[in-house]
Parts: sequence; C-alpha cells; structure tokens
Amino acid sequence: MKRTKRIGIITAGGDSPGLNAAIRGVGKAALGSYGMEIVGFRDGFRGLAEDLRMRLDKRALAGILTIGGTILGTGRDKPHRMEIQGQDRDMTEVIARNYARHKLDALVCIGGGGTHKNALRLVEKGLKIITLPKTIDNDIVLTDASIGFDTALGIATEAIDRLHSTAHSHHRIIIAEIMGHRAGWLTLGAGIAGGADVILIPEMPYDIEHIAAAIRQRSRHGTNFSIVAVAEGAMSKEDAAAFAKAEAQKRNATSKAQKQRAKTELAVLSARHSGNTLRLAKQLEALTHLEARVTILGYVQRGGTPSAGDRLLATRLGTKCAELIQDKVFGVMVAARGDGVKPVPIAEVAGRLKTVPPDHPWLDSARRVGTCLGD
Ligand code: F6P
Repeated sequence: MKRTKRIGIITAGGDSPGLNAAIRGVGKAALGSYGMEIVGFRDGFRGLAEDLRMRLDKRALAGILTIGGTILGTGRDKPHRMEIQGQDRDMTEVIARNYARHKLDALVCIGGGGTHKNALRLVEKGLKIITLPKTIDNDIVLTDASIGFDTALGIATEAIDRLHSTAHSHHRIIIAEIMGHRAGWLTLGAGIAGGADVILIPEMPYDIEHIAAAIRQRSRHGTNFSIVAVAEGAMSKEDAAAFAKAEAQKRNATSKAQKQRAKTELAVLSARHSGNTLRLAKQLEALTHLEARVTILGYVQRGGTPSAGDRLLATRLGTKCAELIQDKVFGVMVAARGDGVKPVPIAEVAGRLKTVPPDHPWLDSARRVGTCLGD
C-alpha cells in the first residue's frame, strides 16, 4: 500500500498579513486534493529544532483565511546559530534528524530574505524544501509579489491619507516613517498612492537642501503643508557615503582587527541612523520655518486582516505548492508571475535583494506628478 505523504510547514521571519491564508492554501490543497498529512512546526526554525508541533487537520485550517499574523507563530532564529539555553548552537543536524524522525516528505517554509538563506542550508543538507515568498518589504527576487506587501501598502496609504488632513489643518510638515528595511517599495508605493509631496527611499540617498527647497516652493505657491513619506532605511547622501565606506572596509579587510573596526563603525552608524526620521524633522523645521511632526507607522503595517490581494496571492501560491510537492518538485520557491505561478530555484533567491531600480516606472510616475524624491 502507498504511504500517505507527510509534509511539514513553518512560518519564519517577521509576521505579515496573509500567512494564515498561505498555510490554509497549502493545507487544504494537500489534504483535499492529494490526501497528504500536514504537521505544523511552531515559531519558525526553532519549532523544527525543539520539535514544537501543531496538528494541522481540516478543523485547524478552518476559519483562518482572514486572520492576521500566523497561527504557527514565527521567529527570526537561524538553524545554524540558534540560542539554546543561553548559548548559540548549530541546530542544523538536529533539524535534519527531526525531519527524518517525523518521516516528512517535504518541508514548506513561508518567509522572506532570511528564511530563504536558512532554507538553502537545509536544501544543502538534503531536506526536500519548498518555499513561499512572504514579506511586507516586497524585496524578494524573482517573484512579482510577496505575501503581505499588498496589505501593508493599503495600511500605509490610509495612514498618509489621514495625515494629510491634519497636516493641512495645522500648516505643518508631517513625516510618515514607513517600514521596508533596505528596500523602498512600500514607501514609494504608499507615497504615490497617498499623494505624498516628498518620498525618500533607501535606494536614492537624499539632499536635505533639495527637500527643503521643494517644501518652500509649495509654501510660496500658497500650500503651507507637506507630507513626507520616508522609508526607515532612507538616508542622506553623506550618511550613505559613510555606510558605503564602512561596508567596503569590512569587505576588503585583510585582518581580523580591520574587520572588527569596520563592524564597530557600521554599528555606530546604524545606531545613529535609528533616530534619522526625528533628525530629518528638526532639519526641515530649521530650513523651512514650518512646524514638523513625525509619525512612525511601525508594526501597524504588519498587523491585522490581510487584504483581498494578499489572500488571493497566498491561496494561489499555497495551492500550487501542494501540487509541486505531489509532483516531487523540491528546492524551489513558488513565485508569482503575472496571473500564473512559477517554481524558481531557492539557490537563485537566497542572499539576493530586490530593491527599487533607478529606472523603475514608479519613480518616473512620482516625478511626473511633481513629487520630490530628495535627489
Ligand atoms: O521584514 C519586515 C520588517 O517589518 C521590515 O520592514 C523591518 O525592517 C523589520 O521587519 C523589523 O524587524 P523586527 O520585526 O524583527 O523588528
């Protein structure tokens, strides 16, 4: 008699709306179309290392489509460097043993950049892995979209809409800080959709004088308020040059001491950059003589009900994932391509970042509606 296929599933990295829709998509198709069994592991890769399981039967998968977060829990642990009882340990072997012990035929990892690097390590250990792209940052290569981006885009856009009326009433500059790590997709998308007057993204270091000039010009034309959408990773030209220098020093270091010095410099720069949006507000106040206020959108962008777009994407990718497992296609990420879905090698995804290219059409559209991009 043919043995029932068993698949494991984890959600890893930062949570994002649509993770439950993805778990449901994989699970319902695996159970319903292929008669597989599904085991959930809790809290990302840690669940595999510590054998924290959750039964994912029909009942567990019911009613989760619209719920934010992840019923499995998540975490940013790495298999090769996991803190166990206060000590960093390589848990890769333990994970491989648990995978074998539970007689898994495949492991589905739903995650972003870090998850893909971790998943690749497990592929190299011989585990049959298949991944789904998830992150509000939209920075995963080789896929048109990642689960969570559409919802976060809607939340950030609504926030900008709401900030508009208060900025207008008080004749203020309001700066909305938007997530996205080192990619500007969320800020650029929400900035355009919300009609921000200034959009600052990590890919385009800014000149504070140019931003102030654009705001002053609005005032001269009788509009004495402005909305600035700034990505958490955006920085001035001077700061970007300092980061680039320290990164090059780290890359080219020929001794441990040199590498350590570059790392310390990067840590100092990062610590200083964490207060960048507040500094930006002070600088713009001084240069424009308008009052400036800051709103950091933070984790609101990752929480709550997934949008229709994310539910649809998660269900498309999740159901295809079950089909690929049935067809024994492993070592791939299920990518979104147009209306369809395409498996791409995890090895071609891991370690790469999809940032906004300088010639991206969204940038052109932003400029054509008069948005200052700070350059
Ligand atoms: O990757 C998603 C994201 O929300 C980024 O936009 C942000 O920089 C990061 O996660 C925050 O990470 P954490 O939740 O670990 O603080």
